[in-house]
Amino acid sequence: MREIFCADDLGEFGLNAATSGSAFVEFDRVQKSYDGEVLVVKDLNLAMPKGEFLTMLGPSGSGKTTCLMMLAGFETATHGEIRLDGREINNIPPHKRGIGMVFQNYALFPHMTVAENLSFPLEVRKMGKSEREAKVKHALDMVQMGEFGNRRPAQLSGGQQQRVALARALVFDPELVLMDEPLGALDKQLREHMQYEIKALHDRLGITVVYVTHDQSEALTMSDRVAVFNDGVIQQLAPPEDLYERPDNSFVAQFIGENNKLTGKIIGRNNDKVQVSLADGSSIEALAVNCGGEGEETLMSIRPERVVLGDDTAQNATKAKVLELIYLGDHIRCRMNVHGNEDFIVKVANSAGHTHLKKGEETTISWLPEDCRALDI
Ligand SMILES: Nc1ncnc2c1ncn2[C@@H]1O[C@H](COP(=O)(O)OP(=O)(O)OP(=O)(O)O)[C@@H](O)[C@H]1O
Ligand SMILES: [Mg+2]
Repeated sequence: MREIFCADDLGEFGLNAATSGSAFVEFDRVQKSYDGEVLVVKDLNLAMPKGEFLTMLGPSGSGKTTCLMMLAGFETATHGEIRLDGREINNIPPHKRGIGMVFQNYALFPHMTVAENLSFPLEVRKMGKSEREAKVKHALDMVQMGEFGNRRPAQLSGGQQQRVALARALVFDPELVLMDEPLGALDKQLREHMQYEIKALHDRLGITVVYVTHDQSEALTMSDRVAVFNDGVIQQLAPPEDLYERPDNSFVAQFIGENNKLTGKIIGRNNDKVQVSLADGSSIEALAVNCGGEGEETLMSIRPERVVLGDDTAQNATKAKVLELIYLGDHIRCRMNVHGNEDFIVKVANSAGHTHLKKGEETTISWLPEDCRALDI
């Protein structure tokens, strides 16, 4: 089994003394290659203040676990520096970094009781028996597992095992806790409950958390900031609201939330707006976020809830044909043909208890140029 406990006192290595800047965790130009050829992490720069809850979010293979493993010390960076509390830790072994960890597959020791599982990292730290017992009790109470100290992991449900794993990561009072898809094996209801519990513990204990998931709603609800990964590169690092409202590029726009796409060629620019000509001959105005100059292609992103129905005089007004209507209670999801895109989704609020729209009908829709972001293609 992989060594996931971190022994020794950080103070022994002088890590408690902040020596540079205000960042608690820092990746400075970090690269990683497993085979000496392909970089799976490319020039990663990331600085986290103490107490932050940061989530690494991204598709499978984008380098999230690799980054976490480098921070934990199970993988070494091929280039760059990783710092904890101002001190370079590249060459400090995992068990001396004082970091708590939780992984998807719990990795509790099956032959030990719950209490023994929690006591183990404290024994490694040479803590006395009575102090150990008090800490174990406190950590189990924290995750509402105080009654289960004598059970073995196999006698617990998945959610209970995950709670014990969380308690074990926290039992030695680490300042930094890493979690890699810790809730991936749980059903939806339990996952949401544990999300709430982890967040509450973070707020209460003031610990710094680096959390890895590919579940975007988990990332958006739990985090102070989210680093969106793709192909070993952070595409955007921002608070959840910024990621959704102001995606920097088309990858983030498409990865976070739902988004309608239109492509066209830029034919003019006026301050922060561009005029874009579409394949059907029409032209629309968009916010110039991350696009080229005149003559260049751009991909425009429009959120379904920002589309307005029925105003012929509005800017960017266009005819749209209703292809499909799906009743979803609080809103109606309407698939339309807009400028040739047959997967254009409009969310219509269900304020009147029904929608006047009919399948096959033509209507007018519009959106503000500010809600149409011209991005890289
Ligand atoms: N030990 C290893 N040896 C060689 N290649 C590896 C190793 N671990 C990961 N990789 C490769 O590095 C890349 C990044 O993998 P990583 O596990 O960091 O992705 P991830 O973002 O955590 O993905 P997932 O969401 O599937 O867990 C992938 O292409 C993967 O195949
Ligand atoms: Mg992973």
